[in-house]
Amino acid sequence: MIKVNSQNLVSKSKKNKSNKFQITPVVGLQWGDEGKGKGVARIANTLNKNDLIVRFQGGNNAGHTIWHKGKCYIFHLIPSGVFGKAKIHLGAGIVIDPWALKKETLEIPKNVSFMSRLSVSPHAVLIIPTHIILDSVSEKRKGKGKIGSTGKGIAPSYADFVSRNALRVGDIKYKDFKDRYRKLYNQHKKNLHNNFNYNLNTKKFKKLEKDFFAGVKFLSLLKIVESNLITEETLNKKNKVIAEGAQGSLLDVRFGHYPYVTSSHTISSGVGTGLGISPKLIGSAIGIVKAYATRVGEGPFPTELGGKKSAIWCRDKKFVDEKKKFPNPNPDSKDDFEVGVALRKSGSELGATTGRLRRTGWLDIPLLKYTIKMNNAKELVLTKLDVLDGFKKLKVCTHYIVNKKRTDIILFDLFREDIKLVYKTFPVWKGELSDYIKATKKLPKEALNYIKFLEKTLGAKIIYIGTGPESHHVVERYW
Ligand code: GDP
Ligand code: IMO
Ligand code: MG
Repeated sequence: MIKVNSQNLVSKSKKNKSNKFQITPVVGLQWGDEGKGKGVARIANTLNKNDLIVRFQGGNNAGHTIWHKGKCYIFHLIPSGVFGKAKIHLGAGIVIDPWALKKETLEIPKNVSFMSRLSVSPHAVLIIPTHIILDSVSEKRKGKGKIGSTGKGIAPSYADFVSRNALRVGDIKYKDFKDRYRKLYNQHKKNLHNNFNYNLNTKKFKKLEKDFFAGVKFLSLLKIVESNLITEETLNKKNKVIAEGAQGSLLDVRFGHYPYVTSSHTISSGVGTGLGISPKLIGSAIGIVKAYATRVGEGPFPTELGGKKSAIWCRDKKFVDEKKKFPNPNPDSKDDFEVGVALRKSGSELGATTGRLRRTGWLDIPLLKYTIKMNNAKELVLTKLDVLDGFKKLKVCTHYIVNKKRTDIILFDLFREDIKLVYKTFPVWKGELSDYIKATKKLPKEALNYIKFLEKTLGAKIIYIGTGPESHHVVERYW
């Protein structure tokens, strides 16, 4: 593999004046799972103990994969900088399932000291066990119209927050916490009974409740610090702050394909409300983009390979079903659906949080232009280029055709509009990227051709390319 340049994203973006003493958001530009965890962990390796990595939105619906010393870890709440030296913070805009957080910390190797570096905002919202039940029963009720949530209680907890019923981390230190918990629990119990005909199975529920309070006890051991204070203090001392996005920009609650979205602001302006800091402190973002596209859960996906058939297949089937039916999918099949299966197999596209089949498709330039602009993403990381090894050609959607006219404007409701797609086809390199790189220290011309086309069309600089899951599987920009 090509030798990784010791230069890093942050030191490079430091050269960019606008990022000086500003937070650098690292955000997904598609529907999540772009490889944000690997990107943030890579930056974390270059930070020192006075720098800071924060999560500003979402909860344990996120699944961020990191390879560390040859072992694979999936983090849901813990910031992906856990293996570095920097401080890590769970910001005001997130929702926390305390038991999930406690369990996750048990996965961290004993020799990694993180408790003294970890802090949490008092404003972060608590997910209580009945939120998780409400999430699953309301999804079930929606039937085929479901969102395909991760089932972690995200929407019900954010809903309680905006309707001003939620419990927050800062509440746990007060004597009336248990009473307030019971009050919220009773509201949920009534709601479950009256609206969903669901009665809490008390024995099973008692265990969930016991775990929740064990999680709350763990939370009480953490440093509770206001997000704006820790962020401003770090920036004032001229140290770096990285805001680790969860989900992707197209899952933003307002600017994604509503209602097929998550319940938080996933875009870089979410850093402001998620930490309680001035927008002036938010620098340009580093956008993480997969070399193709995936989506897990329901909702519009214009470039999906196999269209509706793929969406239904991924909704209803498990990985074992797919392996049985398509042991060797042909990446150059005439059937787009099979090409999508091949892409899923090559990219191991299974949900890091739920294990579901991720729907697969080609890159969508109009949507990327939309998210790049929204996030002020001046630099991009293109991940998973190696996944295209073995394909003869790849495609990119360059425009939509709406009312017989070419456009790259994103319509309000992609589901209810008649959109045709214009594609450009690129030849793919022969053999494996990693072999080529090992032999020549360069990328094949076909890969460079694709990269340069993307930079030109998107008007942003690709700072490195992902060529495999591990931290050293990257090619720094040299072109
Ligand atoms: P995140 O949610 O954005 O952090 O992404 P996930 O961790 O959910 O999914 C990304 C998946 O791709 C993980 O399994 C990573 O280990 C893997 N990955 C990341 N970058 C690359 C890459 O460049 N090549 C390959 N083959 N895998 C990658
Ligand atoms: P990371 O951070 C991909 C999707 C779910 C569903 C929708 C709503 O790993 O990129 P929710 O549980 O949030 O109410 O689900 O959002 N979703 C994700 N898809 N990656 C994620 O996180 C996701 N988090 C939520 O599949 O379609
Ligand atoms: Mg993920």
